[in-house]
Amino acid sequence: MIREVLRMGDERLLRVARPVEAFGTPELLALVEDMRKTMAHLDGAGLAAPQIGVDLRVAMFGFESNPRYPQAEAVPFTVLVNPVLEALGTEQEDGWEGCLSLPGLRGVVPRFTRLRYAGFDERGERIEREVAGFHARVVQHECDHLDGILYPMRMRDMRSFGFADVLKTGSVAE
Ligand code: NI
Repeated sequence: MIREVLRMGDERLLRVARPVEAFGTPELLALVEDMRKTMAHLDGAGLAAPQIGVDLRVAMFGFESNPRYPQAEAVPFTVLVNPVLEALGTEQEDGWEGCLSLPGLRGVVPRFTRLRYAGFDERGERIEREVAGFHARVVQHECDHLDGILYPMRMRDMRSFGFADVLKTGSVAE
């Protein structure tokens, strides 16, 4: 079922979500299926359970190509439950982000360039990867949702925040 995505201002987006305690349950599989359909319906690059009002540490991301991020390299579709992130090094880079909870908006956000992340898929299979670039950016963005953090809260210069159809980014189209 396609679910409603909460928009910024809804207090449910600000919670620290609870860990998932049981894998492979009908409830968790149904949640992941709803998230997958909702993300696909909206051409999202990722989605986190708090964005549909579910207080659990479940995120997903990935795409072959995405009209919202036409320049980005492909990221394998991944369901990530109870994730743990570790920056590799201190290097950060700025990049444009959007969010289904802030429709129409874009902003430049600093993120760690290289990242190790671990967690589980919805059936409890362990996932562990080292990534960089846009893949690392998407994981940091989605996992921030699990801690009640929306990308404008990470921005350093609010002059690079605005509506995608007004901004002259050269690389982002909605
Ligand atoms: Ni988001």
